[in-house]
Amino acid sequence: MGITYSSLGHKTEIEKLRKSLKQSEDLVQDLQEELEMKDASTVKELAVEDYESVDVHNDSYYNDAMQTLSPEQKLDDSLRHCDDEYCDRNAEEESLRKIEAELEAELDRQNQIEGGFYLGYVERIKFAIFNFELNGKRIVYLDNAATSQKPAAVLNALQEYYETYNSNVHRGIHYLSAKATDEYELARQKVANFINASECREIVFTRNATEAINLVAYSWGLSNLKKGDEVVLTVAEHHSAIVPWQFVAQKTGAVLKFVSLTEDEVPDVEKLREILSSQTKLIVVHHVSNVLASVLPIDQIVSWAHDVGAKVLVDACQSVPHMVVDVKSLDVDFLVASSHKMCGPTGVGFLYGKSELLSAMPPFLGGGEMISDVYLDHSTFAEPPSRFEAGTPAIGEAIGLGAAVDYLSGIGMQKIHDYEVELANYLYDRLCSVPNVRVYGPPPSKTVNRAALCSFNVEDVHPTDLATFLDQQHSIAIRSGHHCAQPLHRYLGVNASARASLYFYNTKEDVDEFIRALNDTISFFASFK
Ligand SMILES: Cc1ncc(COP(=O)(O)O)c(C=O)c1O
Repeated sequence: MGITYSSLGHKTEIEKLRKSLKQSEDLVQDLQEELEMKDASTVKELAVEDYESVDVHNDSYYNDAMQTLSPEQKLDDSLRHCDDEYCDRNAEEESLRKIEAELEAELDRQNQIEGGFYLGYVERIKFAIFNFELNGKRIVYLDNAATSQKPAAVLNALQEYYETYNSNVHRGIHYLSAKATDEYELARQKVANFINASECREIVFTRNATEAINLVAYSWGLSNLKKGDEVVLTVAEHHSAIVPWQFVAQKTGAVLKFVSLTEDEVPDVEKLREILSSQTKLIVVHHVSNVLASVLPIDQIVSWAHDVGAKVLVDACQSVPHMVVDVKSLDVDFLVASSHKMCGPTGVGFLYGKSELLSAMPPFLGGGEMISDVYLDHSTFAEPPSRFEAGTPAIGEAIGLGAAVDYLSGIGMQKIHDYEVELANYLYDRLCSVPNVRVYGPPPSKTVNRAALCSFNVEDVHPTDLATFLDQQHSIAIRSGHHCAQPLHRYLGVNASARASLYFYNTKEDVDEFIRALNDTISFFASFK
């Protein structure tokens, strides 16, 4: 059988068959153990019980015939059936082993070709979406900074929730509600462990990172900022990290101060340091830029901020999915991320906040779940995180996020990061080699890596034309526009850019296809000149 990397069903099928094989083996083993351990009469009774409960005997003609057998004969029949099934399964397993060996051999071969660069090939088979073709071509998905694809483990977790224990959380004493609550809270614990938070009550589930930032703005911002206080940001922030603070500034009279870029097109952290003062109450910064691919030294920024008594809110949307992020060692006060960029479902994200900060913050939204007691004229509120989770949360989605965290941790965030650094450099080098292309952000350096994305423009071709041609002619998905970073684009002197962004299931082969297609696209538009 020929193996292709898109033969995704493969592993799932192997797992299913393995599971049922294991059940048959267990049954045979149980019966044999009982035979060895117990006296003959007890064994016979147990074996007959087991025999009668086995599904394969559900044929009524067969069952009628069996009524005439003695317990000894039934025992013999039971063992024989199990043995037959065991033999069939053995044959099945043998063929599965062959398929697996073929798959492994293919991966080894690829591994040799790529010089150890194979994570993308191994992982992409777990994503059903990569089985689909567009216009007869496999889809090359390079829009991961916008949202990531979802592996089978996450889809299965969602399906399992909706099929087997769908219920509301924290409200019912019945089995389904208790199970949903346990799984929802387990997901919170998984997220806490993933970013090394001290306690799971430091994790608040929100709709997305945007809502998490708004939560801090409306709750912490409105009650802690006053006229003349300063909030420091960079011109490279995503709109979701700028606009909520504009609302807060308008309401409180606080001042927003923006740090520009260095010549290398990295937010100028030295300037940021210089403008910090006792007026500074908060720094809002991204960890990894969704346009420049630059990575900020968050630990340094936090230490400078704390020296002047300011808090730090980190927009970690583009870092948490791609590298080890440890809130304890970074000592950040708040950090936000979205599930959908880290292989999880849409509709859920999270806010990390130091517990002493969250405990002192007033509620953001009012309603069920977030209260302690409600009277007609006032209410008292639950402790965090419930205080900030008004109404029915995105239960299945949070559980799906938990599954995504398990999946990513199973691969290892360091491994993902190392792989992506190599992919990032490859993408940057190949893109820079295309004539008339301008890539934004810093070149990769020995000390600071670029993230695995490139925003770029091609002389005389609008990025939306590029993206449309790549999609329609080559089935390659990239993004075009301002990427929710208009102030940054204005600073760079452009309205828009094209962006190719990678994840660990991408490969150098994807980059090569993209570059080939980009050259073709550029030639196409050049032919009209
Ligand atoms: C750096 C950054 N911050 C914030 C966001 C907002 O994320 P969401 O739309 O999931 O709230 C994004 C998403 O594109 C992002 O890239």
